[in-house]
Amino acid sequence: MERKPIVGINMKTYQPLPNQAVSYAQSFLDLMGSEKDIDIFYIPTAPLLYPVSKILKNSSIQYGAQNCGPTDSGSLTGEIAIDSLEALQCSLVIVGHYERRNLFFESKDMIANKVKLALKRDISPILCIGEEEKILDLTIRKEIFQKDMEECLKGIGSKEVSNLIIAYEPFWAIGKEESADPEYVHDSHQLLRDILVETFGEEYGEQALIIYGGSVSQSTAYDLANHKEVDGLFVGRFGHVPKRFQQIVEEVKKAKLSSK
Ligand code: PGA
Repeated sequence: MERKPIVGINMKTYQPLPNQAVSYAQSFLDLMGSEKDIDIFYIPTAPLLYPVSKILKNSSIQYGAQNCGPTDSGSLTGEIAIDSLEALQCSLVIVGHYERRNLFFESKDMIANKVKLALKRDISPILCIGEEEKILDLTIRKEIFQKDMEECLKGIGSKEVSNLIIAYEPFWAIGKEESADPEYVHDSHQLLRDILVETFGEEYGEQALIIYGGSVSQSTAYDLANHKEVDGLFVGRFGHVPKRFQQIVEEVKKAKLSSK
């Protein structure tokens, strides 16, 4: 099935100042505001979502948050309220990133609640799934993904899956010199798609997007994206300069358009 490719960046807290986020968002708009073939998104640090939303809200560039609270707004000190994301017209929210799971001990129950809440509010959750170390045996790799997906997507109905984005982010490939090897990534994406289809049926399981993240750069972007189950890339450090990010988008475009 045809899915529109998507490429985005998780800025983590690398650009913590308002002027940095504003100028980054403005560059995205100038460089890629008229991009038709690929959806583009920018995920700044939460306190800068308001100025970013002012720049991007009437454009084709999507934006969102790196996290959200697990329940409706209320007694959740330090959390990001889903109401705020809705009010700022965010279309995406990252859920269960490796750093949230490992540094902030986010449980799978909590992740499942965040996914559910985001879907209810029509904000696409970007659910991060990945194994802790390289696993060459595909049966074992599938079992790991399956268990994580089962827990993190608990209570999600088939129809809702069409708004879900899975970010395949092997923990061992985050923050490295190079991304994971494309063939390894392709196998993982195929396994993730199989799980989605087996769990939610073909009609809906085929609709969710699966993107790869973990040390993505221009050098491997084409090869990574050159597979039918890789719907796009999730960029980190190597996209901090907007022009570099745009080069990655161009590589994805080449891979996706040439495989049509
Ligand atoms: P990285 O970050 O590209 O800097 O490894 C990717 C991520 O954590 O999403």
